[in-house]
Amino acid sequence: MSPGSEALQGHIFTDRKVFDETYVPSTLPVRDREADMLIMRYVPRFLQGPGSTDVTLIYGTIGKVGIGKTTLARFVTGKLQELLGKHGVMLRPVYINVYGAPSLHQILNGIVNGLNINVPVRGTAAIEVLKAITDTLYYRDSYALVVLDEFQSLLMSNRVSDEDLYMLLRVYEEIPPKDGVNRLGFLLVSQDFRVLSYMRERIPQVESQIGFKLNLKPYTAEELYAILEQRATLGLRETAWSESLLRMIAEYYGYSDKGASSGDGSARRALLALRMAAELAEAEGAYAIAETHVRRALSNDAISNVPLEYIRSLGLHQLLILLAITMLVQSKGGWLSTGEVKSEYEELARAYGEEPRRHTQFYEYVRELANSGLLETKVSSAGLKGRTTLIRLGADVPADAMREVLESVIMDRTGGPKLRGAHT
Ligand SMILES: Nc1ncnc2c1ncn2[C@@H]1O[C@H](COP(=O)(O)OP(=O)(O)OP(=O)(O)O)[C@@H](O)[C@H]1O
Ligand SMILES: [Mg+2]
Repeated sequence: MSPGSEALQGHIFTDRKVFDETYVPSTLPVRDREADMLIMRYVPRFLQGPGSTDVTLIYGTIGKVGIGKTTLARFVTGKLQELLGKHGVMLRPVYINVYGAPSLHQILNGIVNGLNINVPVRGTAAIEVLKAITDTLYYRDSYALVVLDEFQSLLMSNRVSDEDLYMLLRVYEEIPPKDGVNRLGFLLVSQDFRVLSYMRERIPQVESQIGFKLNLKPYTAEELYAILEQRATLGLRETAWSESLLRMIAEYYGYSDKGASSGDGSARRALLALRMAAELAEAEGAYAIAETHVRRALSNDAISNVPLEYIRSLGLHQLLILLAITMLVQSKGGWLSTGEVKSEYEELARAYGEEPRRHTQFYEYVRELANSGLLETKVSSAGLKGRTTLIRLGADVPADAMREVLESVIMDRTGGPKLRGAHT
């Protein structure tokens, strides 16, 4: 390749689209066992022609996003289509995110479009549309496996009645097929286990027909490394990345239930950070991603962990207290005593030309900030000086990013530090 054409293409990427959110790799480096388990369970059922309602549920972990729920569902349904096709069984996967299609008609529309069935959905009763779907599947001698992603949002909204949900999910019972074969199956994907109690409450009969439940946990650093490595191999030049940089990203986001400094286990955030580092390197015309690019990508993402709206809503003295704590965390780390925070804050307040608040008010502010989750407090065990409250920044709050944000908000409010005694 001539140097000219290389410059035109950049030195970093070979294929950007593998970093797209909706890209599903053709093999899963992690969760392959879960995928196999699901596939092994489905294949014999479809080969025999299932004769009852069978619902499968994939659910995640409370508060954890980007852990591969959607990817696993899409991967499995795609692989099933491929595998069953080799056995002469036609299965068409249909993917619907019900968060964006929150009514029965919108869901039916998604199924009808996904299966290329020619029936007007608008103005037709749902049961008739479902009949048309099951009839078509019967005449075509084929199956549909419908993924309903973000399923919990359907249960939490009142746009779909319990009757509608039953009609859809128990279509086999509602519209018994001519040959006794259930051709319309559902794979439900949901955020966390709470979906089970929502189901028990609204559609207990469907809940009791869940044949298989799979709970996905956030990814560990090792798992994230495997995912990152696969994507780097697929989308980046071999010379543009190194194992150690991928490790750095994987360790930053990797989840562990021991150890306070663990990440949230999100493959999405890890992949975005890799992409961002790659973009930074490419934009600079560099030949390879360097550690500085990775650090910048990680800290950009960390800023999104800082609740900007909340910070902007705070009063100046609360901001100054937070800044004092952040600076102490940066310079010495660990738990801080109330006394040292207070004196750092007083110094800062004076630097900004403000009279520091008195002890009671200071304490009240700290309490409010602790309630917001930005700060953590604990009472020290009785020492020589008696009990005192210890303070630190919440473990998931990145001090560097926090300081940048605070300084800029305080700058907006005050115009910056002033000499002592200058106008207030
Ligand atoms: N096992 C895996 N192998 C390869 N890539 C993965 C894997 N798991 C997740 N990813 C990638 O991580 C990103 C996020 O995954 P996905 O969207 O499936 O997560 P999710 O759990 O559905 O997230 P959300 O909670 O936001 O719905 C996607 O880009 C996906 O390709
Ligand atoms: Mg998802």
